[in-house]
Amino acid sequence: MAENKIKSSEITPENVYLNRRNFMKAGLIAGTTFATGLAYRFFNQPPPPEVETAKIETVKPAETPLPETDKPNSVKEITNYNNFYEFSTNKSSVAEYAKDFVTRPWTVEVGGLVQKPKTFDIEELLKIEQEERIYRFRCVEGWSMVIPWVGFPLKKLLDKVEPLGTAKYVAFETYYNKKQMPYASYAGIDFPYVEGLRLDEANHNLTILATGLYGKQMPNQNGAPIRLVVPWKYGFKSIKSVVKITLTDSEPPTTWNIAIPNEYGFYSNVNPNVSHPRWSQATEQRIGEYTRRKTLLFNGYADEVASLYEGMDLRKYF
Ligand code: MTE
Repeated sequence: MAENKIKSSEITPENVYLNRRNFMKAGLIAGTTFATGLAYRFFNQPPPPEVETAKIETVKPAETPLPETDKPNSVKEITNYNNFYEFSTNKSSVAEYAKDFVTRPWTVEVGGLVQKPKTFDIEELLKIEQEERIYRFRCVEGWSMVIPWVGFPLKKLLDKVEPLGTAKYVAFETYYNKKQMPYASYAGIDFPYVEGLRLDEANHNLTILATGLYGKQMPNQNGAPIRLVVPWKYGFKSIKSVVKITLTDSEPPTTWNIAIPNEYGFYSNVNPNVSHPRWSQATEQRIGEYTRRKTLLFNGYADEVASLYEGMDLRKYF
C-alpha cells in the first residue's frame, strides 16, 4: 500500500476525474451549508429503532474527564449522525443501511515492517484492558460531538508485533465488500477506505482503537467492531471497521487526500487558524447546541500533542 503513490487524477480519464471532483465539491458544500439545518430537523423527528449491542463487561473508567462545558452527546446523536461512505453519504441513513453489516468473524492483520506479524481475532483484541476515553470529536465539515469511547491505546497492539527501527508510519485499511456495501459505488471516493499516521502519532497515548461507546460494543454505523480514534485530528482520520494495519517506511496514501489532494492533507490536525480552502475552521457546530463555538487548536489537546509538530509549518503540513 505504501508504494502506491499514483494519484487518482493520473489513473482516471480526466473528464471522469473532473466530474467526480465537481460532484464531491457540490456534495461537500451542500453538506456543510445544510449540516446544521438537517441536524436540527433530524433530531426533532421520532427516534429511529435502536440496535442494541452487547455490554462490555470490564471498562476502566476515564481518568481525565472533560470540562462541564463538554458534556457527552446522547447515544441517539452519536449513532444517527454518521459519516460512513461505504454505506451511505447521507448521515441520517447510515444507521439503517449498516444495520445488517456482518462483523463476526473479524480479524485485524498487523504486518509490514515488524518483527512479529500477526493476524488478531477480534475476540483477542477485546481481551486487552478496555478503557473509557471521553473525547471531543471534530469533523472537517464543521460539526462536533463529545463521545465516550471504549477501547485501548493503539500502542498496546503495535508493541505486540514489535515494529522494526525502519518503521516510520502506520497505514490502516477498512473492510470492503460490495455485497454488504451496495451503495459505496455512489460515494465518489475510492474503496477500501485507507488512512495513515506517523508512528509517533500512532504511539501517542491519546490514540486509541475503539471497540465501543457508552460501555457497549461499537454500533455498526460507528465502525464496528473496531475503529481508530485520534481526537486531535479531523474525524476522517478516525478510520472505521479496520481489517489491516501495516507499518511502513514512507507516508501511506489516505482516502481523502487521494480524492481532493489540495483540500485534505496527511496530517489534518484540528486547527482554527488554517481554513479549509472553501470554509473557515475557526468555529464549529456542536451537535445539540444552537450557537457555534470556537474551535480549539488540536481540538483542545495541544498540551498533550503540540510537541509532536515542533518546528513544522502547520499551513504546509495541513
Ligand atoms: N471510515 C470509513 N471507513 N469510511 C468513512 O466514510 N468517515 C470518516 C471517519 N471514518 C469514514 C470513516 C469521517 S468523514 C468521519 S467525520 C468519522 O468517521 C465519523 O465517525 P462517526 O460516524 O462515528 O461520528
